[in-house]
Amino acid sequence: MNKGELNHLLGIKGMNANQIHTIFETADNFLSLLQAPVKKTPALRDITIANLFFENSTRTRVSFELAEKRLGADIINFSSSSSSVKKGETLIDTVNNILSMKVDMVVMRHPAPGACMFLAKNVKSQIVNAGDGTHEHPTQALLDAFSIRNKLGSLEGKKIVIVGDIKHSRVALSNIYCLQLLGAEVMVCGPSTLIPKHIEQLGVKVSHNLDEALSWCDVANMLRIQLERQDQRFFPSLKEYSNLFGLNMERLNKLEKEIVIMHPGPINRGVEITSEVADSQQSIILEQVENGVAVRMAVLFLLAQHQL
Ligand code: CP
Repeated sequence: MNKGELNHLLGIKGMNANQIHTIFETADNFLSLLQAPVKKTPALRDITIANLFFENSTRTRVSFELAEKRLGADIINFSSSSSSVKKGETLIDTVNNILSMKVDMVVMRHPAPGACMFLAKNVKSQIVNAGDGTHEHPTQALLDAFSIRNKLGSLEGKKIVIVGDIKHSRVALSNIYCLQLLGAEVMVCGPSTLIPKHIEQLGVKVSHNLDEALSWCDVANMLRIQLERQDQRFFPSLKEYSNLFGLNMERLNKLEKEIVIMHPGPINRGVEITSEVADSQQSIILEQVENGVAVRMAVLFLLAQHQL
C-alpha cells in the first residue's frame, strides 16, 4: 500500500504484517456473511469500481466482480479485446476516460510488470493490482495465506513449498513476501531453468527434488507451467516435467504425514498435478477460490475506508 492521499494495493512488497492481519480479520467477517442466507452488505453503495482486464482471467475477474457486488458497489467491466485499446489508445488515456465518468477505484490486470504502479502515479484513482505480468499478484497471495491460516490455525513456523515455474510467476513472488511477513518458512522447488538466479537472497530455500521438498513441507503450492510467458524451452517435454515435478498419489503416499495441497489455478491436470490429487481431501483448491471473494471484499472495503 502506498501512503499519501490515495492508497492502493499494488503489491505485497512494502506491506507489513499488521496490514495483512487487518485484511484477514475483515475477511473473517465477510466469510461469515458469504455463508449467511443474505450475502450482501451495502458497505460500498456509493463507490464505483472499474475492472480493467488487459489479460485473460477467470478466477480473479469473477472473484473481484462478485466481491464488488456483495459489497453493493456499482461496477464497470472492461476487457482490452473489445475496447479502443485495439485502436491505439494509451493506458493512461483509456483509464482517464473511464475515470471522467466518476469512477472511484480501478482493479487492473495487465501483462506489463509495473503497469499498476505506473497507473497509480499517473491517474487520480485508487488502484488494485489483479496481476501485473511476472511481477506481483497480491490478492492471490493474500487469499493463499488466508486459506493456510484457516486450515492450519496460523502461518507462524509453517513450512510452505512453492513448486514449478517460479521464474515467470507473479503468484510465487507475492506468496514469498506474504508468507515470510506472517512467519512462515518458504522453499521454492523446480528445474534450475525455472528458478531465478539468486532467489535465495529473498530468504527462501531452493530444491530441485520434489520428493525432498514434499518431505520438508506442511503445505505444497503447485504452480502452472506458464507456456504463454516462455519464449524458449526450459525443459525437454511436459512429460519429463511431470515425471520430475508433477504431484501424484504415489508421491503423496510415500510421505509419513498428510500435507495440504494448493494451486492458484488454472490447473493443467496431468502436468503439475494429477486429477486424483487435485480432487483429493488434502486439496484446498476450491477453498482458496471461496476465500478469495472474502479476501477481495476485505481489500476493497479497507481501501475505500482508507484503512490500509
Ligand atoms: N489464479 C488466477 O490468477 O487465475 P486467473 O488467471 O483465472 O485469474
